Amino acid sequence: MADTTPPLETARLRLRPFTAADVDAVHAYHRLEDVARYQYWQPRSRDEVAQEVAKWLEGGWDRPAPDAIVFAVTLKENGILIGDMVLLFRDQGARQGEIGFSFDPAHGGQGYATEAARAVLDFGFGQFNLHRIFGRCDARNMASWRLMERLDMRREAHFREHAMFKGGWDEEFYYAMLSREWADLRRGTN
Ligand SMILES: CC(C)(COP(=O)(O)OP(=O)(O)OC[C@H]1O[C@@H](n2cnc3c(N)ncnc32)[C@H](O)[C@@H]1OP(=O)(O)O)[C@@H](O)C(=O)NCCC(=O)NCCS
Repeated sequence: MADTTPPLETARLRLRPFTAADVDAVHAYHRLEDVARYQYWQPRSRDEVAQEVAKWLEGGWDRPAPDAIVFAVTLKENGILIGDMVLLFRDQGARQGEIGFSFDPAHGGQGYATEAARAVLDFGFGQFNLHRIFGRCDARNMASWRLMERLDMRREAHFREHAMFKGGWDEEFYYAMLSREWADLRRGTN
């Protein structure tokens, strides 16, 4: 059974399960147009955030085979919540995972999202023995795909006008990392 005992710790961050007390901190950035623009949702009201966080509370930390684990990303030094990250378990048989992330722009540009995402990749490959972890984003979402490139994920696909998104054609990038590529990176051989 995977050891999913929270929290995960990095040099500057603590990734822990969500609590009901986190609603206001999440609303502070989920209400922003800049955060919602390339997501499948519109800027959220406090009630909508409360409903979302209620789902995240169920978490997956305590389950051996969760559908998803949602991480509250907090600063170690003061406990401030700066973002949310999700690891979705997409195919148990083929051990495929997907990451997703939203961060408060008030704490952007300091490498926190990169640091949190590395911890989640390490967690997915290490604790859940995932074979491949991928991430998707709108091709116009430069902050998102640049983050995945900082993680050394490979751009695997560019889907052109393959779907409708918020009233227009969707352009989507897929990025991915294999477990052996992650192991090579950690050994410094890649
Ligand atoms: C995607 C998102 C998380 C990226 O946030 P970000 O602030 O660019 O990412 P990081 O926290 O990793 O910070 C990276 C920046 O900090 C800089 N930085 C400073 N210190 C750093 C460090 N120690 N390590 C890495 N980068 C560091 C980097 O150079 C980079 O700056 P640049 O953009 O000027 O090149 C954020 O834009 C977001 O939440 N967007 C809205 C939600 C969204 O669209 N989510 C994705 C849906 S697919």
